[in-house]
Amino acid sequence: RVAGPCAVVLFGVTGDLARKKLLPAMYDLANRGLLPPGFALVGFGRREWSDEEFVEVVRGSVEQHARTPFDADVWEQFSTGIRFVSGAFDDTEAYTRLRDVLGELEQDRGTGGNAAFYLSIPPRAFQTVSTQLRDAGLASTDGESWRRVVIEKPFGHDLESSQELGRAIDAVFPPEHVFRIDHYLGKETVQNLLALRFSNVLYEPIWNAEYVDHVQITMAEDIGVEGRAGYYDGIGAARDVIQNHLLQLLALTAMDRPDSLSADDLRSAKERVLEAVTLPDDLLGTTARGQYLGGWQGGEHVRGFLDEDGMAEDSTTETFAAITLGIDSDRWRGVPFYLRTGKRLARRVTEIAVVFKRPPQTITPGQEVGQNALVIRVQPDEGVTTRFNSKVPGPGEQLREVTMDFGYSHAFTEASPEAYERLILDVLLGEPPLFPGQREVELSWRILDPIEEAWRAEGAPESYPPGRWGPPSSETMLSRSGRTWRQP
Ligand code: BG6
Repeated sequence: RVAGPCAVVLFGVTGDLARKKLLPAMYDLANRGLLPPGFALVGFGRREWSDEEFVEVVRGSVEQHARTPFDADVWEQFSTGIRFVSGAFDDTEAYTRLRDVLGELEQDRGTGGNAAFYLSIPPRAFQTVSTQLRDAGLASTDGESWRRVVIEKPFGHDLESSQELGRAIDAVFPPEHVFRIDHYLGKETVQNLLALRFSNVLYEPIWNAEYVDHVQITMAEDIGVEGRAGYYDGIGAARDVIQNHLLQLLALTAMDRPDSLSADDLRSAKERVLEAVTLPDDLLGTTARGQYLGGWQGGEHVRGFLDEDGMAEDSTTETFAAITLGIDSDRWRGVPFYLRTGKRLARRVTEIAVVFKRPPQTITPGQEVGQNALVIRVQPDEGVTTRFNSKVPGPGEQLREVTMDFGYSHAFTEASPEAYERLILDVLLGEPPLFPGQREVELSWRILDPIEEAWRAEGAPESYPPGRWGPPSSETMLSRSGRTWRQP
């Protein structure tokens, strides 16, 4: 699966994502031999950079963030295909220059006229850029070559704005040419959810309300907003990652077996789950919201959210969010799905824990037995853990919970590729299954909007010290039903 000849045009080259993930991922793909020799990368942005200056910028980010070791020959080949077009997003002449550059690259590098426009830019700029691309005749071709557009979240900030965005993109690109990135779907462990569930007989028969007590999906980060106040303020944890990553994890965990791994079948299986999601009546009692304070974390003094550079000092944006969802289907009716995420938490960990019911009877009367759990460790310690009860050696019938572990690093010699490598390669190959459709995006906003509204009416979030698992209300929302969060 090596990509064919093409160019990637990157909008938003100076952003955090481009520097830390996108540019290094493209180099890593080249280094792994997955890009054709004639691959070209065109940066588009307001900076008045020459091609050479942009080459240096790319090199800096590759040296700092690439996964694969620097290889002078690969770099030589890769960097001779790098160009920069300077212009504002609404500068029509810049798009004419872009067209000329793409024409030259077709001649000089043999890109075949194929191009992917990667919009790593704020959503308010999507419409301008896509219209400009269309007006410059860049959005479509005579059919010999292809044009694709890649868009990065946030796909709006609520249902209405996401629909508007969808219409703006639709007006320019046919749906099969649009690739919406949710980088969690590019992670190996997330793709493995399908293999785990549907290529084994062990789990699927008990993957339902008869056996499952509840599901906890945690995405915890130990970092703060890291200089992204401008993006994060007013967005918050729920819009930043629950609307997309966590609801995608929920959909993959809860969906029925798709008919195939095609994009259409996968998307409709996920859509059916998202359509069936229900919210509890008591939205405030079943959710939690927090904002991190300054303090000591891991031997270092860290700033509070309100003291981050560029943050509004009275910001009520949440950096921790936890919600409770139900799924109204025969498989899941009555099983709560708890989702939580936060910054400046105790550690970086993403996991999906399926917690099973206690056995109806035990052979050790009077002894409380632990609940079995299957924990899919998405990151950083990729793997799967099963937790079950075992007899403690020796006389007596004492039980203790033990675990059985599968770790990627032990089982496989191949390292998991960075999510963006996989996704960028799929864009270039024209393979859409790992990209959510517009309908999933809208269904996810439909779930989040009422929660956001309840929170808005409530006012400021609770605060929590750095290095903990969030505010106290996060614990109470579970303890009300006699449950507790796992501490991964
Ligand atoms: C992004 C969010 O989508 O995911 C960030 O915007 C977050 O706020 C990041 O830090 C986390 O990604 P990962 O792959 O490190 O879990």
